[in-house]
Amino acid sequence: MQCSWKYIVLLALASLAIQYTAIRTFSTKLPYLLCSVGIEPTGQAVNCSLKDLTLEGLDCGCDENLSHTPSSPTFSLPTYDANKRTHILILATTRSGSSFVGQLFNQHPEVFYLFEPLYHVQSVLLPRLAQSRNLAERRVMMGAARDLLRSLYHCHFSSLENYIRPHPVNHSTDKLFRRGASRSLCSPPVCEAPLGPDEQSLVLTDEGECVKRCGPLNVSLAADACRARHHAAIKTVRIPQISDLRVLIEDPRLNLKVVQLVRDPRGILASRIETFRDTYRLWRLWRATGRRPHNLDLGQINTVCEDILRSMSTSLARPTWLRGRYMLLRYEDMARFPLQKTRELYSFLGLVLNQRVEDWIINNTRGGSDLSSRHKFTTVRDSAANAENWRVKLSFDMVVYTQTACQPLLELLGYKTIFHPRELRNLSHSLVEDRMFLPFS
Ligand SMILES: *[C@@H]1O[C@H](CO)[C@@H](O)[C@H](O)[C@H]1NC(C)=O
Ligand SMILES: *[C@@H]1O[C@H](CO)[C@@H](O)[C@H](O)[C@H]1NC(C)=O
Ligand SMILES: *[C@@H]1O[C@H](CO)[C@@H](O)[C@H](O)[C@H]1NC(C)=O
Ligand SMILES: *[C@@H]1O[C@H](CO)[C@@H](O)[C@H](O)[C@H]1NC(C)=O
Ligand SMILES: *[C@@H]1O[C@H](CO)[C@@H](O)[C@H](O)[C@H]1NC(C)=O
Repeated sequence: MQCSWKYIVLLALASLAIQYTAIRTFSTKLPYLLCSVGIEPTGQAVNCSLKDLTLEGLDCGCDENLSHTPSSPTFSLPTYDANKRTHILILATTRSGSSFVGQLFNQHPEVFYLFEPLYHVQSVLLPRLAQSRNLAERRVMMGAARDLLRSLYHCHFSSLENYIRPHPVNHSTDKLFRRGASRSLCSPPVCEAPLGPDEQSLVLTDEGECVKRCGPLNVSLAADACRARHHAAIKTVRIPQISDLRVLIEDPRLNLKVVQLVRDPRGILASRIETFRDTYRLWRLWRATGRRPHNLDLGQINTVCEDILRSMSTSLARPTWLRGRYMLLRYEDMARFPLQKTRELYSFLGLVLNQRVEDWIINNTRGGSDLSSRHKFTTVRDSAANAENWRVKLSFDMVVYTQTACQPLLELLGYKTIFHPRELRNLSHSLVEDRMFLPFS
């Protein structure tokens, strides 16, 4: 009942503020989403009152309410507590090496790992906007995203099912985005594919193979597997800033720790130009012709730099709510010192590093020189390659243009700007300054 009046007010708000042309998709989907997703993990329905109905209140989870709980207790330095479930979020940007960092958790036998579950929220709520720059739309997305993350950490998978299209029947679906990227979803008991002639146990290292051999995903079994693991990790490139996560971080029941992965924006750009050929068509044109197209859209790279910069400004102020909950990781450091950085990461999280994870790193980075033993993850090639290989992929003009747009961020993260083409191509001279970004507690 509460949901129905709320839904009407929400729609009015949405149509005013969002000016979203396809409002009809909202009107058919929102009531369902808001009323089913907004159940607290404890099972009690959420009580929303009219005053909560700011746009932020579109959460329906009424996250505002949680900020009334006393702010997080002071944290001592992380110590390992075998009984305490830790929830990990890898907060990243597209093409910043997040698949690689995700593997550092995916390979751990005690971690339940999910790859980009927020893809489904985005494709239902904002199908045509990959990275919306409209504030109101971003808020709607973030409210739904937070609710879904909270449910997933508590292994409530019905919220996720609500976003999967077509809707799973009998809790079974073959439409979970990149299911094969999650080991837990490709191994027993979730997947009981028959063993091949040479196999002693089911080891699926290839995403496609998982999807092919495991059949549709039994979501109930996935939820069981989630509950059976000690910890859960989720990777996302769909949360713009750390402040978007504040209510989750402050939620004492969640024990959430965030690893923000950053990368030199010039490296992000070079990698995106290779990967998203349509979206970055004009950049490729620039590279090919040597002339900057007059209608080049700087928006994408500006957004990347702005978002990371805002997050950094937030964390540099060391707010109480981030104490012991936040770690900044430069992709370049991970690429150069994978084992050392992984140990630091696990120590921050208070988790015991597993031998399997170390083996995976050795197999998949320069630490392991046997190239033929590499797995077929698309991500692996990137990490093994020089993290600075953008320097041979971008033209000098493109680099100057980008570093001008992102100057404050480059300084803050310790990436050197260049002034001459000779500096750009001289790879024996690194553009990554040595910096320590220590978690604070
Ligand atoms: C919201 O806050 C009020 C007052 O602090 C509390 O009584 C109520 O239980 C809270 N509701 C939820 C769903 O947390
Ligand atoms: C769902 O389960 C019911 C009962 O077990 C069965 O009758 C029905 O055929 C199933 N539907 C599909 C699409 O598998
Ligand atoms: C999913 O697994 C559960 C638990 O083993 C089982 O009861 C259910 O029938 C399975 N669902 C499908 C669609 O196979
Ligand atoms: C590492 O490579 C070896 C040899 O190819 C393989 O047997 C082992 O399973 C790999 N380990 C991991 C964690 O990938
Ligand atoms: C490349 O950089 C190194 C270290 O800064 C320098 O010693 C060397 O002279 C440079 N090479 C060229 C060709 O500029």
